[in-house]
Amino acid sequence: IHNLETENSILNQFISEIRDQVIQKDTMRFRKNIERIGEVLGYELSKTLEYTKKTVQTPLGVKEIFQPEKALVLCSILRAGLPLHQGLLNYFDTAENAFISAYRDHSDNSDDFEVVVNYLASPSLANKILLLADPMLATGKTLENTINAMKSHGEPKQIHIISVIGSRKGVEYIEDVFPKNTHLWIAAIDEELNSKGYIIPGLGDSGDLSYG
Ligand code: PRP
Repeated sequence: IHNLETENSILNQFISEIRDQVIQKDTMRFRKNIERIGEVLGYELSKTLEYTKKTVQTPLGVKEIFQPEKALVLCSILRAGLPLHQGLLNYFDTAENAFISAYRDHSDNSDDFEVVVNYLASPSLANKILLLADPMLATGKTLENTINAMKSHGEPKQIHIISVIGSRKGVEYIEDVFPKNTHLWIAAIDEELNSKGYIIPGLGDSGDLSYG
Protein backbone atom coordinates (compact mmCIF):
# COMPACT_ATOMS: atom_id res chain seq x y z
CA ILE A 1 0.00 0.00 0.00
CA HIS A 2 1.40 3.34 -1.05
CA ASN A 3 -0.57 6.03 0.81
CA LEU A 4 0.66 9.33 -0.61
CA GLU A 5 -1.26 11.33 2.02
CA THR A 6 1.52 10.59 4.48
CA GLU A 7 3.98 12.67 2.44
CA ASN A 8 3.83 16.44 2.22
CA SER A 9 3.34 17.36 -1.42
CA ILE A 10 1.22 19.39 -3.82
CA LEU A 11 -1.03 16.31 -4.04
CA ASN A 12 -2.59 17.30 -0.71
CA GLN A 13 -3.76 20.59 -2.20
CA PHE A 14 -5.63 18.70 -4.93
CA ILE A 15 -7.18 16.43 -2.27
CA SER A 16 -8.27 19.30 -0.06
CA GLU A 17 -9.92 21.04 -3.03
CA ILE A 18 -11.92 17.97 -4.06
CA ARG A 19 -13.06 17.41 -0.45
CA ASP A 20 -14.18 21.03 0.03
CA GLN A 21 -17.94 21.24 -0.57
CA VAL A 22 -17.68 24.84 -1.79
CA ILE A 23 -14.78 24.33 -4.20
CA GLN A 24 -16.20 21.03 -5.50
CA LYS A 25 -19.20 22.90 -6.98
CA ASP A 26 -16.75 23.93 -9.70
CA THR A 27 -17.11 20.66 -11.59
CA MET A 28 -14.39 21.46 -14.12
CA ARG A 29 -11.88 22.00 -11.28
CA PHE A 30 -13.11 18.80 -9.61
CA ARG A 31 -12.47 16.73 -12.75
CA LYS A 32 -9.16 18.49 -13.39
CA ASN A 33 -7.98 17.77 -9.85
CA ILE A 34 -8.87 14.07 -10.19
CA GLU A 35 -6.94 14.07 -13.48
CA ARG A 36 -3.93 15.74 -11.80
CA ILE A 37 -4.08 13.17 -8.98
CA GLY A 38 -3.99 10.48 -11.68
CA GLU A 39 -0.84 12.09 -13.08
CA VAL A 40 0.86 12.24 -9.68
CA LEU A 41 -0.05 8.65 -8.74
CA GLY A 42 0.98 7.50 -12.21
CA TYR A 43 4.36 9.18 -11.82
CA GLU A 44 4.86 7.60 -8.40
CA LEU A 45 3.99 4.11 -9.64
CA SER A 46 6.20 4.58 -12.70
CA LYS A 47 9.18 4.42 -10.34
CA THR A 48 8.40 0.73 -9.70
CA LEU A 49 8.04 -0.38 -13.35
CA GLU A 50 10.68 -2.24 -15.31
CA TYR A 51 12.79 -0.36 -17.81
CA THR A 52 14.78 -1.44 -20.83
CA LYS A 53 17.81 0.28 -22.33
CA LYS A 54 17.50 2.24 -25.54
CA THR A 55 20.08 4.19 -27.53
CA VAL A 56 19.10 7.67 -28.67
CA GLN A 57 20.85 9.70 -31.33
CA THR A 58 20.84 13.39 -30.33
CA PRO A 59 21.97 16.10 -32.79
CA LEU A 60 25.35 16.06 -31.02
CA GLY A 61 25.94 12.50 -29.92
CA VAL A 62 24.59 9.20 -28.67
CA LYS A 63 23.02 8.53 -25.29
CA GLU A 64 21.71 5.38 -23.64
CA ILE A 65 18.50 5.87 -21.70
CA PHE A 66 15.99 3.66 -19.96
CA GLN A 67 12.46 3.36 -21.31
CA PRO A 68 9.55 1.75 -19.50
CA GLU A 69 8.19 -1.55 -20.74
CA LYS A 70 5.19 -0.85 -22.90
CA ALA A 71 2.88 -3.70 -21.94
CA LEU A 72 0.55 -1.65 -19.75
CA VAL A 73 -3.22 -1.93 -19.78
CA LEU A 74 -5.09 0.94 -18.21
CA CYS A 75 -8.59 -0.04 -17.05
CA SER A 76 -11.07 2.41 -15.58
CA ILE A 77 -14.34 1.82 -13.84
CA LEU A 78 -17.20 3.87 -15.24
CA ARG A 79 -18.02 6.45 -14.71
CA ALA A 80 -16.09 8.10 -11.86
CA GLY A 81 -12.84 6.58 -13.15
CA LEU A 82 -12.81 8.62 -16.37
CA PRO A 83 -10.90 11.74 -15.19
CA LEU A 84 -8.42 9.52 -13.32
CA HIS A 85 -8.00 7.48 -16.50
CA GLN A 86 -7.16 10.63 -18.48
CA GLY A 87 -4.54 11.65 -15.91
CA LEU A 88 -2.83 8.26 -16.20
CA LEU A 89 -3.06 8.32 -19.98
CA ASN A 90 -1.36 11.73 -20.00
CA TYR A 91 1.77 9.95 -18.77
CA PHE A 92 1.42 6.39 -20.10
CA ASP A 93 0.65 7.44 -23.63
CA THR A 94 1.26 4.03 -25.25
CA ALA A 95 -0.89 2.05 -22.78
CA GLU A 96 -3.72 -0.11 -24.05
CA ASN A 97 -7.08 0.75 -22.56
CA ALA A 98 -10.00 -1.12 -21.06
CA PHE A 99 -13.31 0.06 -19.63
CA ILE A 100 -15.71 -1.65 -17.29
CA SER A 101 -19.01 -0.55 -15.81
CA ALA A 102 -20.01 -1.20 -12.22
CA TYR A 103 -22.84 0.22 -10.18
CA ARG A 104 -24.43 -0.30 -6.81
CA ASP A 105 -27.84 -1.94 -7.15
CA HIS A 106 -30.18 -1.10 -4.25
CA SER A 107 -33.09 -3.05 -5.75
CA ASP A 108 -34.76 -3.85 -2.42
CA ASN A 109 -34.60 -0.16 -1.36
CA SER A 110 -32.48 -0.95 1.69
CA ASP A 111 -28.93 0.17 2.52
CA ASP A 112 -27.70 -3.20 1.25
CA PHE A 113 -26.46 -3.31 -2.29
CA GLU A 114 -24.94 -5.61 -4.88
CA VAL A 115 -22.28 -4.34 -7.24
CA VAL A 116 -23.34 -5.16 -10.80
CA VAL A 117 -20.87 -5.35 -13.70
CA ASN A 118 -22.52 -5.32 -17.12
CA TYR A 119 -20.03 -3.85 -19.59
CA LEU A 120 -16.42 -4.80 -20.22
CA ALA A 121 -14.17 -4.05 -23.17
CA SER A 122 -10.55 -5.09 -22.69
CA PRO A 123 -7.51 -6.24 -24.61
CA SER A 124 -5.74 -9.40 -23.45
CA LEU A 125 -4.16 -8.97 -20.00
CA ALA A 126 -1.92 -12.03 -20.17
CA ASN A 127 1.55 -11.18 -18.84
CA LYS A 128 0.85 -7.45 -18.95
CA ILE A 129 0.79 -4.86 -16.18
CA LEU A 130 -2.76 -3.90 -15.30
CA LEU A 131 -3.51 -0.42 -13.92
CA LEU A 132 -7.01 -0.33 -12.41
CA ALA A 133 -8.37 3.17 -11.83
CA ASP A 134 -11.29 4.04 -9.58
CA PRO A 135 -11.27 7.22 -7.44
CA MET A 136 -13.35 5.73 -4.60
CA LEU A 137 -12.52 2.59 -2.63
CA ALA A 138 -15.39 2.35 -0.14
CA THR A 139 -16.27 -1.31 0.58
CA GLY A 140 -13.91 -2.61 -2.11
CA LYS A 141 -16.71 -4.69 -3.72
CA THR A 142 -16.48 -2.82 -7.02
CA LEU A 143 -12.78 -3.54 -7.41
CA GLU A 144 -13.31 -7.16 -6.38
CA ASN A 145 -16.10 -7.66 -8.94
CA THR A 146 -14.02 -5.87 -11.56
CA ILE A 147 -11.00 -8.13 -11.18
CA ASN A 148 -13.24 -11.21 -11.20
CA ALA A 149 -14.94 -10.03 -14.40
CA MET A 150 -11.53 -9.44 -16.01
CA LYS A 151 -10.27 -12.98 -15.33
CA SER A 152 -11.57 -14.15 -18.72
CA HIS A 153 -9.04 -11.78 -20.40
CA GLY A 154 -5.93 -13.50 -19.05
CA GLU A 155 -3.73 -13.17 -16.02
CA PRO A 156 -1.72 -9.95 -15.63
CA LYS A 157 1.81 -10.29 -14.27
CA GLN A 158 1.23 -7.35 -11.92
CA ILE A 159 -1.72 -5.19 -10.83
CA HIS A 160 -1.61 -1.56 -9.72
CA ILE A 161 -4.81 -0.12 -8.27
CA ILE A 162 -4.98 3.67 -8.51
CA SER A 163 -7.46 5.33 -6.22
CA VAL A 164 -8.04 8.81 -4.85
CA ILE A 165 -9.74 8.11 -1.55
CA GLY A 166 -10.41 4.93 0.38
CA SER A 167 -11.80 3.72 3.68
CA ARG A 168 -9.50 1.76 5.97
CA LYS A 169 -11.93 -1.19 5.77
CA GLY A 170 -11.97 -1.11 1.97
CA VAL A 171 -8.19 -1.03 1.79
CA GLU A 172 -7.97 -4.06 4.10
CA TYR A 173 -10.62 -5.86 2.04
CA ILE A 174 -8.60 -5.30 -1.13
CA GLU A 175 -5.51 -6.71 0.56
CA ASP A 176 -7.52 -9.89 1.29
CA VAL A 177 -9.17 -10.46 -2.07
CA PHE A 178 -6.50 -9.33 -4.57
CA PRO A 179 -3.51 -11.46 -5.56
CA LYS A 180 -0.23 -10.79 -3.78
CA ASN A 181 1.31 -9.13 -6.83
CA THR A 182 -1.00 -6.12 -6.36
CA HIS A 183 0.06 -2.59 -5.39
CA LEU A 184 -2.36 0.07 -4.21
CA TRP A 185 -1.57 3.73 -4.94
CA ILE A 186 -3.92 5.95 -3.02
CA ALA A 187 -4.00 9.66 -2.23
CA ALA A 188 -5.96 9.50 1.07
CA ILE A 189 -7.37 6.91 3.49
CA ASP A 190 -10.24 7.82 5.87
CA GLU A 191 -11.02 5.79 8.96
CA GLU A 192 -14.80 5.55 8.73
CA LEU A 193 -17.20 3.71 6.40
CA ASN A 194 -20.86 4.27 7.31
CA SER A 195 -23.74 1.78 7.12
CA LYS A 196 -24.58 2.97 3.58
CA GLY A 197 -21.05 2.20 2.42
CA TYR A 198 -19.99 5.89 2.24
CA ILE A 199 -16.49 7.01 3.18
CA ILE A 200 -16.58 9.49 6.12
CA PRO A 201 -15.56 12.33 5.87
CA GLY A 202 -14.65 11.38 2.28
CA LEU A 203 -15.72 13.79 -0.40
CA GLY A 204 -19.22 12.70 -1.49
CA ASP A 205 -19.95 10.81 -4.70
CA SER A 206 -17.10 11.24 -7.15
CA GLY A 207 -19.18 10.15 -10.16
CA ASP A 208 -21.93 12.71 -9.40
CA LEU A 209 -19.40 15.46 -8.64
CA SER A 210 -17.63 14.90 -11.95
CA TYR A 211 -20.63 14.31 -14.19
CA GLY A 212 -23.81 15.40 -12.38
C1 PRP B 1 -18.74 4.55 -6.71
C2 PRP B 1 -17.27 4.77 -6.99
C3 PRP B 1 -16.71 3.38 -7.03
C4 PRP B 1 -17.58 2.64 -6.06
C5 PRP B 1 -16.81 2.38 -4.80
O1 PRP B 1 -19.39 4.27 -7.90
O2 PRP B 1 -17.04 5.47 -8.17
O3 PRP B 1 -16.77 2.80 -8.31
O4 PRP B 1 -18.73 3.44 -5.82
O5 PRP B 1 -17.58 1.69 -3.87
P1 PRP B 1 -17.22 0.25 -3.28
O6 PRP B 1 -15.74 0.25 -2.96
O7 PRP B 1 -18.07 0.17 -2.06
O8 PRP B 1 -17.56 -0.77 -4.30
P2 PRP B 1 -20.95 4.52 -8.14
O9 PRP B 1 -21.70 3.24 -7.94
O10 PRP B 1 -21.41 5.69 -7.35
O11 PRP B 1 -21.01 4.83 -9.72
P3 PRP B 1 -20.55 6.13 -10.54
O12 PRP B 1 -19.05 6.09 -10.62
O13 PRP B 1 -21.16 5.94 -11.88
O14 PRP B 1 -21.07 7.35 -9.82
